[in-house]
Amino acid sequence: MLRSALLNVMIKAAHKAGRMLKRDFGEVEHLQVSLKGPANFVSVSDRRAEEILHEELDRARPGYGFVGEEGGAREGSDKTHRWIVDPLDGTMNFLHGIAHFAISIALEREGTIIAGVVYNPANDELFTAERGKGAFLNDQRLRVAARKRLADAVVACALPHPSRGDVALVRREHVAVLDEVAGLRRFGAAALDLAWVAAGRLDAYWERGLSPWDMAAGIALVREAGGFVTDLDGRETMLTSGGIVAGNDDIHRALLRVLKQNA
Ligand code: IPD
Ligand code: CA
Ligand code: CA
Repeated sequence: MLRSALLNVMIKAAHKAGRMLKRDFGEVEHLQVSLKGPANFVSVSDRRAEEILHEELDRARPGYGFVGEEGGAREGSDKTHRWIVDPLDGTMNFLHGIAHFAISIALEREGTIIAGVVYNPANDELFTAERGKGAFLNDQRLRVAARKRLADAVVACALPHPSRGDVALVRREHVAVLDEVAGLRRFGAAALDLAWVAAGRLDAYWERGLSPWDMAAGIALVREAGGFVTDLDGRETMLTSGGIVAGNDDIHRALLRVLKQNA
């Protein structure tokens, strides 16, 4: 499959960091882990992966800005481009030996996300998307699911720790959505939730309180697979509001309606 130079740069970086994460995942019980906040763990693997990604991306595209979960924002001389990176999305899964985690890399140009890569090194699933060129799982073209009714939909959500956000609101939303859908799931890696919506495995996904690195690459994937992404107000300000609702046209609209009724 012929890929653009840009995607090749992103994929090469993801593969390099992915090899390290896969090795660490095999000996997870020996990793040094610290606490960033209540139930918010970070391991040496998160930090090492971010350094590898920064080094690789910066070498290939010197001057681009870089924002990563662990190292924060690093200004570049090129103010029009910025990498948005989660070196390990799904840290809790990773630390518990659950093979559902990913590296997430997005490139923003003048405030628009133009490419996204989400890579799960544990099963070698590589999700890629570039603006106007479609979304892919390895070399297979992706399309969001075609289901039309919320009653037939499998939807992913989050179960945030009680220390984060409006617990009563989140619980209200869960009960309301559970009443309307065929199945509700919590997988624990936002980037993969979005990739799975793009792949049509999930009909929709929503979450509040995310950071840009959790969702930037996944947004590119869902859009390029023909899906819709907004925040919980129906606006395209996901990266600043931290809320996200993703799905195909019908399911996205229906889910947003249920969420708004319970806000
Ligand atoms: C977390 C995961 C999780 C989501 C949290 C994120 P991390 O990211 O994406 O699914 O519910 O809100 O913070 O900490 O594992 O990179
Ligand atoms: Ca994350
Ligand atoms: Ca992370």
